[in-house]
Amino acid sequence: MTNSLVRVENLKKYFPVKLGLFEGWYFNPLPKRKKLYVKAIDGVSFEINRGDTFALVGESGCGKTTTGRTIVGLYRKTGGEIYFKGRPVDTVLKENPGDFRRNVQMIFQDPYSSLNPRMKVYQLISEPMRVHKLVKDRKEERERVAELMKNVGLEPEYMTRYPHQFSGGQRQRIAIARALATEPEFIVADEPISALDVSIRAQILNLMEDLQEKYGLTYLFIAHDLSVVRHISNKTAVMYLGRIVEMGDTDEIFENPLHPYTKTLFESIPSVDKVKQPLKVTIEGEVPSPINPPPGCPFHPRCPFATDRCKKERPELVEVAPGHKVACFLY
Ligand SMILES: Nc1ncnc2c1ncn2[C@@H]1O[C@H](COP(=O)(O)OP(=O)(O)OP(=O)(O)O)[C@@H](O)[C@H]1O
Ligand SMILES: [Mg+2]
Repeated sequence: MTNSLVRVENLKKYFPVKLGLFEGWYFNPLPKRKKLYVKAIDGVSFEINRGDTFALVGESGCGKTTTGRTIVGLYRKTGGEIYFKGRPVDTVLKENPGDFRRNVQMIFQDPYSSLNPRMKVYQLISEPMRVHKLVKDRKEERERVAELMKNVGLEPEYMTRYPHQFSGGQRQRIAIARALATEPEFIVADEPISALDVSIRAQILNLMEDLQEKYGLTYLFIAHDLSVVRHISNKTAVMYLGRIVEMGDTDEIFENPLHPYTKTLFESIPSVDKVKQPLKVTIEGEVPSPINPPPGCPFHPRCPFATDRCKKERPELVEVAPGHKVACFLY
């Protein structure tokens, strides 16, 4: 049996740009306008092994959520391939859609909007069990809900309450229990703590770690800054404008970041002892638009080390040390 649980190969997701009602023809009556696309993910490849916590980090808009949503099947991919346990997801979905949907779950950033406010905790957690026919009767269902609530640190006696009667952290615990209800092997957690109070973030991270061990889970953990992923992930991939620019063991990425963009991400981590940190690599400018990405290396307009080659040629992700890949001509 292979150790690989999820593998994506040259994954692409383009969104057509929606033009205003009249833009398309009235003010621009050209017979054939070139269709515009947001290249939210543009050729991403990585592998997640069983038991991994694979972190995907990068600035807002770089394509992290799109990657997660495309893998779990909420978005249809534009190109490339996704493999689950070594088999293309398209095939798996054709043969046994229920099994894939049960096995792969997602936790969202905002526990305020991801839970139906009209459902009680009991319904929220038991619904997926019923959909996937995982319980034989009402008694077993009740026991499973109570057990899951205990395992995520909630009192089972609160199962008759509504989400609004809980705090943000407790609501995220409900969302986690709901995701666990189908006994998944793989969970995509899309910034699961960034909407929460700073004081309770560590608790939710610790809970996720405990649950990983208890249930043998594999995580794709999405975060926009590196500080969050250091302790929870064993692998880290850094995304920029729809591509992975650096990837490797988390320890290696933290001790020896190579890509100029990764270095800037480290410098934006606030440190506790120094209020202001001098920036070693200063980046200027905005993230370019994924509708019309710059030619060459997507980071070159902001990179202090960019050369002429970077403006013309696109660096491929190459292995520079065992397991450590970087897409930069400097290496
Ligand atoms: N449903 C959609 N339709 C059109 N464009 C989209 C859609 N979803 C995302 N995009 C665009 O794709 C790009 C990547 O977005 P995505 O939400 O994946 O980024 P992200 O890395 O998750 O950002 P954030 O840190 O803000 O959550 C952005 O330019 C975004 O505007
Ligand atoms: Mg996002």
